[in-house]
Amino acid sequence: MEPYSYEIRTAIPSDASGIIECMQSVMSEKIYLVSEVYLYTERGQKEILRNPDDLNLVTVFRREVVGTMNIQRGIYKKNRHTANLGIAIKKEHRGKGFGSEMINRGIRWCREEGIVKLNLEVFSSNEDAIRLYEKLGFKIEGSRKGQFLVDEKYVDDVMMTVYPMEHLDDVGKTNLSHGMDH
Ligand SMILES: CC(C)(COP(=O)(O)OP(=O)(O)OC[C@H]1O[C@@H](n2cnc3c(N)ncnc32)[C@H](O)[C@@H]1OP(=O)(O)O)[C@@H](O)C(=O)NCCC(=O)NCCS
Repeated sequence: MEPYSYEIRTAIPSDASGIIECMQSVMSEKIYLVSEVYLYTERGQKEILRNPDDLNLVTVFRREVVGTMNIQRGIYKKNRHTANLGIAIKKEHRGKGFGSEMINRGIRWCREEGIVKLNLEVFSSNEDAIRLYEKLGFKIEGSRKGQFLVDEKYVDDVMMTVYPMEHLDDVGKTNLSHGMDH
């Protein structure tokens, strides 16, 4: 493994096809995300990446997008103080600290942007992810019982929230197991 070969950075429009490929590979596993097919075209994905209201990060390994995180701010006056986080890392690249690093950067960005509430939704069956989000400062705010059928079992839609303005930096920071470019 090359040292310093992973990079976490803001996504640019030319990352669109890599992001689509990354999202589709995680959706194809069928147990982590609601949709099993990523519906955005490359053009649609580029539009998302150009939206100055939102944050899109990628983890890149040897020019391949192996992880992606999106924070989308509420689009109405009534919910612009909130944002939703979505994250997906390709199977072979999990457990190396990239998810934690992207989420911590996302929380910092929310604070700089004055976002009061950062939300995410996760299946109750995704216990490792829930534990990780708790470690990073998220708390369970509520759940919708039996909202999804995953792997032939009903699971809850767990809603988790962190308050970036009150959040300490880099809670639960893991040491990255591979060098980072920056
Ligand atoms: C959840 C996810 C974003 C975490 O990112 P990551 O880079 O794997 O996590 P990190 O390396 O920063 O942190 C490791 C922790 O994540 C936990 N984790 C959660 N889901 C995991 C998974 N599927 N594989 C490996 N580790 C996972 C590990 O248990 C580990 O906890 P520990 O530090 O107590 O041992 C990533 O595993 C992922 O994309 N999973 C599949 C898709 C998904 O669940 N998306 C979120 C839907 S809400």
